[in-house]
Amino acid sequence: MEDGAQPEPTLDNVVDQNTLKWIFVGGKGGVGKTTCSSSLAVQLAARRESVLIISTDPAHNLSDAFRQKFTKTPSLVQGFTNLYAMEVDPTPDSADLEQMEWAQDGFFQDLASSIPGIDEAMSFAEVMKQVQSMDYSTIVFDTAPTGHTLRLLNFPTLLEKGLNKLVSLKATMGGMVGQVSRMVGIPGGEELPDVLLGKVEGLLGVVRQVNAQFQDPALTTFVCVCIPEFLSLYETERLVQELARYGIDSRNIVINQVIFPEAASGSRLLEARVRMQQKYLEQFHDLYEDFHLVKLPLLEEEVRGVDALKAFGVNLLQPYTPPPLAAAGGREAELEAEVARLKARVAELEAALAAKR
Ligand SMILES: Nc1ncnc2c1ncn2[C@@H]1O[C@H](COP(=O)(O)OP(=O)(O)OP(=O)(O)O)[C@@H](O)[C@H]1O
Ligand SMILES: [Mg+2]
Repeated sequence: MEDGAQPEPTLDNVVDQNTLKWIFVGGKGGVGKTTCSSSLAVQLAARRESVLIISTDPAHNLSDAFRQKFTKTPSLVQGFTNLYAMEVDPTPDSADLEQMEWAQDGFFQDLASSIPGIDEAMSFAEVMKQVQSMDYSTIVFDTAPTGHTLRLLNFPTLLEKGLNKLVSLKATMGGMVGQVSRMVGIPGGEELPDVLLGKVEGLLGVVRQVNAQFQDPALTTFVCVCIPEFLSLYETERLVQELARYGIDSRNIVINQVIFPEAASGSRLLEARVRMQQKYLEQFHDLYEDFHLVKLPLLEEEVRGVDALKAFGVNLLQPYTPPPLAAAGGREAELEAEVARLKARVAELEAALAAKR
């Protein structure tokens, strides 16, 4: 970046940074997280050996975006040789928990009930463990709306606290458990604490590793998605501050659903929206001068299917420029729209004048 200049308005910095392993994409509900994370994953697939996109939103919509059904194990996205997708549930159901042997332990169950959110944290850790062993070059997370995402990112810390508590509990209670086991005659009861301790420490290891990776800007970054409106600006600020508190790198904000003036001409409603959006765009620029602010256009149609995602993703890397007016609807349509707009303005001014008389 040159001195005093705003950083490039693209996600080139993310795509170019080959060391990045974890890319989180998050923001408020409905702003375009799934669309942006999927488009980014498509762009990355052209430049990385292998890419995995994971949805951690309980209301999964990667399947909608790609028009392909995904499950909780990675499957190849149609039309690619190196892009995989999976949808995981951050709130495990009992069937999931049954598969995790550590979750069967009575001590774990006591622990789960004493620390709210720990079961979710454990299942997240399990997913991370699974994903880490798979060796993808880059993993893109399509996260759930803000509150939930931050909770997820705080899990390693929560889990570490919970597990530490368990370890110290074991240290004080261990002997007693052995005695009780002997008394009631559970075979192998004495070894139980050690076996469990071993499992817990193993998991703690994964959690610490994940935590350290999430806090390393060479490995992890968080891309915020928002729209140019008051509430979204406010939520973005909250998100950026929380990420800073968790020590997670964030330096990119995608501002989605921008209406460019060229697309609004002739429509008073759209022109009013453009003015409103401009106000918030200016505020984004004032507040985030050291961020990459990427503007994406509001399209007439939903962004679904690989082709649409590919086309949309181009503007993550090259600033969007609206098509010239003539191309948008022909010179005649353009003139008609202008006449309609001026007529409406004349009527407005006449009404104002009449009111004054
Ligand atoms: N710039 C855009 N122009 C037109 N449609 C868009 C644009 N961005 C997103 N959409 C559409 O808006 C809808 C919501 O987008 P998306 O699913 O990406 O949002 P989300 O933030 O993931 O929502 P949720 O919080 O529900 O997960 C989708 O149908 C998507 O195709
Ligand atoms: Mg979504």
